[in-house]
Amino acid sequence: MRKIIITIDGFSSCGKSTLARELASELNYVFIDSGAMYRAITLYFLRHHINWEKTKAVEKALSEINLEFQPSGEPGKSDMYLNDENVELLIRDMLVSENVSAIAAIKEVREFAVEQQQKMGKRKGLVMDGRDIGTTVFPRAELKIFVTADPAVRVERRFKELYEKNPKITIEEVKSNLEMRDYIDSNREVSPLRKADDAVVLDNTNLTRKEQFEKALEWANNKIASL
Ligand code: DC
Repeated sequence: MRKIIITIDGFSSCGKSTLARELASELNYVFIDSGAMYRAITLYFLRHHINWEKTKAVEKALSEINLEFQPSGEPGKSDMYLNDENVELLIRDMLVSENVSAIAAIKEVREFAVEQQQKMGKRKGLVMDGRDIGTTVFPRAELKIFVTADPAVRVERRFKELYEKNPKITIEEVKSNLEMRDYIDSNREVSPLRKADDAVVLDNTNLTRKEQFEKALEWANNKIASL
């Protein structure tokens, strides 16, 4: 059976990573959460007080960063390691979420991340989710999915998820963070978030997690069978 590359792009908190992980696990593919890489870079920049408006400082910081995914122990799940430290939980922090879009818009940061992402696709059998995976990272991917959901539904889902970890968080904070990230991600100069022309749209506003998974799996199986 031929192995393919599946890209899953879309706005923040559309359930892209969940879908990507479920698909990868069903197909026995590798799953890569590209957002985790931008988040880990952001964590490094914040910790080391990098002035990211200065190209030289950004380049030096990037040369000190080693990113790796390692299996977490849970089936199909891997954790993000920054210079050998497991940062999977730390990178979901609100401070990282507030700064990640600005850092992910920097040309040098994108080149650094995209180069590593493209290497991961060399052997196919990969599901990667992000913002520019179908447009820039793997423009020739066999299956491209663009996930959308009503903004109010996305805020609600994200709030529930974050509230479990931090009951102090407010729905307003979550809403403004999502709006800000969507805006910056869609309007940056270097590979902004947009649907690839040949991507299929999956609006999951009224779909359960299982229904969305089944739809995407059907697309994947049809594509694999057609090759
Ligand atoms: O998927 P996520 O919300 O964890 O991603 C965090 C941020 O990283 C997101 O706001 C924009 C950026 N990102 C990006 O610019 N390109 C990607 N391929 C993935 C994420």
